[in-house]
Amino acid sequence: MRTKLFLSFLFVILIALLSNLVFERLIINDFNAYVKGSEEDRIYWIMASVEGSYKNGTWDDFLLQEAVHWAAMLGFETYVTDQNNRQIISTSDILAHLNPVMLKRMASLFELPTGYGEYTWYPLYVEGNEIGKIYFRPLKRLGFLPQKEEIFRKRGRQFLLITFAIAGGGAIFLSFVFTFFLSKPLRLLTEAAEEVAAGNFSTRVKLNQGPFSKLFKRRDEIERLSETFNYMVSALQREDALRKHLTSNIAHELRTPLTIVKGNLEALEDGVIKDPKEVFARIKSEIDRIIDLVQGIEDITHAEASFFKKGKKEEIELEEFIRNITDSYQSVIREKGLYLHMEGPIMRVKTYPDKLHIILKNLINNAYRYTDDGGITVSWGPSNRGFFIEVKDTGKGMDDKEIKKIFDRFYKGESSQGRGLGLSIVKELVETIGAEITVQSKPGKGSLFRVEFPAS
Ligand SMILES: Nc1ncnc2c1ncn2[C@@H]1O[C@H](COP(=O)(O)OP(=O)(O)OP(=O)(O)O)[C@@H](O)[C@H]1O
Ligand SMILES: [Mg+2]
Repeated sequence: MRTKLFLSFLFVILIALLSNLVFERLIINDFNAYVKGSEEDRIYWIMASVEGSYKNGTWDDFLLQEAVHWAAMLGFETYVTDQNNRQIISTSDILAHLNPVMLKRMASLFELPTGYGEYTWYPLYVEGNEIGKIYFRPLKRLGFLPQKEEIFRKRGRQFLLITFAIAGGGAIFLSFVFTFFLSKPLRLLTEAAEEVAAGNFSTRVKLNQGPFSKLFKRRDEIERLSETFNYMVSALQREDALRKHLTSNIAHELRTPLTIVKGNLEALEDGVIKDPKEVFARIKSEIDRIIDLVQGIEDITHAEASFFKKGKKEEIELEEFIRNITDSYQSVIREKGLYLHMEGPIMRVKTYPDKLHIILKNLINNAYRYTDDGGITVSWGPSNRGFFIEVKDTGKGMDDKEIKKIFDRFYKGESSQGRGLGLSIVKELVETIGAEITVQSKPGKGSLFRVEFPAS
């Protein structure tokens, strides 16, 4: 990751360097073109002057001398030929007749009397007729002007080099900083993932590690990834703890009935018990307990799985929904001599029906099981958070010590004939759907279980 980031930064720097070089070339070329352009302007100006010295079929010597003189002043060694290619005037002719002061001045500007390089020639026209040619070649310039041009070129190069050094150096520095700080959270994540893979589920990625994290209010992708990672590891940790707990609970719960089965079979074998029917009946009842336990384990596994798979919310009418559940208990409740009351308004709510069904079934089942006198009241209604359902009984009740334990897996009271899993399943489902469960109970007075459901 770091190497890739660093390489991509280097690539960007390289592109910057290349574009800088191209830019420098372009500027210098433009400048050279400008210099050349102004040279051409001068040539056309001189040509116009020379052409202007041709009048009525003859050359005006004075004007011609003047034009060639100006050509020398503008930096060109020239000579002019007529239609017959005869040379009629040249720079050296002019220089020979120039006054000494003027000559000195010119000598300070140009290397006299001859220029350098090849001559280039241009045809001269007057009224569409060629009147001759003019030959040019540059005089070597002395003094400030060529130096200034050279200085400009040099400065341009220096400027571009300096800007490149600043930008390139900055980019390299930033690439180090970014590579380090950007890759740091990813490195932490990788290390954490390796820890988790090695079985250490208490590992968490620490958020907001970067020096810039305080600057930005919005969380970036890596922070969100870290959060999701932490959530995932918490879920794994929870799963792992549940699995370990469940395994030891199951082992414990299975040992008792299996020991009884084994003991009975041994007693039969040793002839201690004579009546095999009695033994079979006991073994059968223990096997029923084991089957019941397996069913319970299946239920709790389902409830746990629902933590990851909530399903879809549906709209239901509460009274109708609750009545469907209580109906199956009506006859046994009446048989036990208990009453069953239902109180609540007509109201429609959005919830997870299958989970609500399991929750209510367990609460009503307990109320029925642990109540010998009086009866059960199921009530519901709107509440601050959304809606509530209460299951109240006039049964044996519980003390505070017991209340603390009732949601633990496999906890069951002395009078219980069950598996001790009902309320732990309820708790699991209540948490899954974002509801809350509370208990009020007094020994001998009865219990009240209240579940608060969120509105949506
Ligand atoms: N309404 C109640 N009144 C009094 N005690 C209760 C009530 N509900 C639960 N308890 C106590 O809490 C314990 C745990 O309840 P839980 O429903 O988890 O298990 P269980 O009823 O024993 O078995 P099962 O797994 O079959 O439901 C019970 O054994 C009982 O002692
Ligand atoms: Mg129960």
